[in-house]
Amino acid sequence: MYLTSEEERMLSGEEGEIVARFMNLLVKLGEKFGAEKMLPVASTQIAGISYKNIGDAGLEFLEEIAKGNVRVRVPSFMNPAGMDLELWEKLGISGEFAEKQKRIINALKEMGVIPVATCTPYLAGLLPRYAEHVAWSESSAVIFANSLLGARTNREGAFSALASAITGRTPCYGMHLEENRAPTFRVTVHAKIRDESDFSVLARFVCKHFSRGVPFFEGMKGSADELKILGATLAAYGAFALFHVKGITPEAGKFEKDAGEVEKITAEESDLLSAKREINREGEEPELIFFGCPHCSISEIRRIAELLKGRKMRKRFFIFTSRTVKETAERSGIAESVRKSGGEILCDTCPVVMPPDSLGARVIATNSGKACFYLRNQGFKVILGSVRELIEKFSVRL
Ligand code: F3S
Repeated sequence: MYLTSEEERMLSGEEGEIVARFMNLLVKLGEKFGAEKMLPVASTQIAGISYKNIGDAGLEFLEEIAKGNVRVRVPSFMNPAGMDLELWEKLGISGEFAEKQKRIINALKEMGVIPVATCTPYLAGLLPRYAEHVAWSESSAVIFANSLLGARTNREGAFSALASAITGRTPCYGMHLEENRAPTFRVTVHAKIRDESDFSVLARFVCKHFSRGVPFFEGMKGSADELKILGATLAAYGAFALFHVKGITPEAGKFEKDAGEVEKITAEESDLLSAKREINREGEEPELIFFGCPHCSISEIRRIAELLKGRKMRKRFFIFTSRTVKETAERSGIAESVRKSGGEILCDTCPVVMPPDSLGARVIATNSGKACFYLRNQGFKVILGSVRELIEKFSVRL
């Protein structure tokens, strides 16, 4: 692989042993995927933050790196942690877990990583521009950045994203190359998409036919918030990192002609009904309802608060978002109105990366297909419904 003189210097250890170790990791990764060169990245988003997922070994690794006095070279955010960094006691998180989780955050902070722990960094201040190269980890953020923003990122692992943060480089392969961004199959939507949870159902339907590639959707519309849910579910049930929607996403026009030449599937009403039945096989009363997978935008929280007006939830009820968005919700009075209806806005974390006991429930309802996928894999029973459906069904009028 061709390396610039600066990259050679990093690899040879002139900038320290840790930088050399991470550069070496990126070179190996690039060689494995046939990359011909490195690319400078504008930002990174680093996974492997929750103590629940990385344990003591991960914590010690990060502390060892932090001790080595290395700093990230580009703006870098964290993926969600294993707890709300302020409300953890309220969630029954143990003191030991909290202490170790805070050490992970501190180790990353020492390296210069910005302590915003979210899967929607683009809603919290880390916004790549069209065609910009970045190295992000979280699969829902990766697919959003590629599809909705037209930025370019592979689905990085925790180590490779950290390596990119420390070197400011990523190997040039996969989603960074124009030729890999063309559609590989077309999805014509004949079914009516009624609400945001139907985007999860549509994604589930697509993943029954294809597990990878680049879908080109036609016959549907969606807001950024809805397409965020579509992308997250595609990236959970399948290995997708990019999709196009005719007339909506920035690269769709460029690839419309290619979309006419690839295999086509059609999503009919009956297809979505059966995909929904597959996700919703439990049929039990939820003990917890939550929204915010991926983390909610301020417009999603505002809408939830509107639907909750004059109502009180009958079940435990959480909204997950970034701390940045929560502060806006607090300042605007939206958070207080959610609390009045029996809800709580949590940040820095999500149900999938929290210790399972802290959720206080075994049956969970949500509007996110991605959350359904991961929570079911963790042994929870899950129910999929839209924000409107779940609020109407599980709240009482005051
Ligand atoms: Fe985000 Fe957690 Fe869902 S990281 S995309 S809220 S599983």
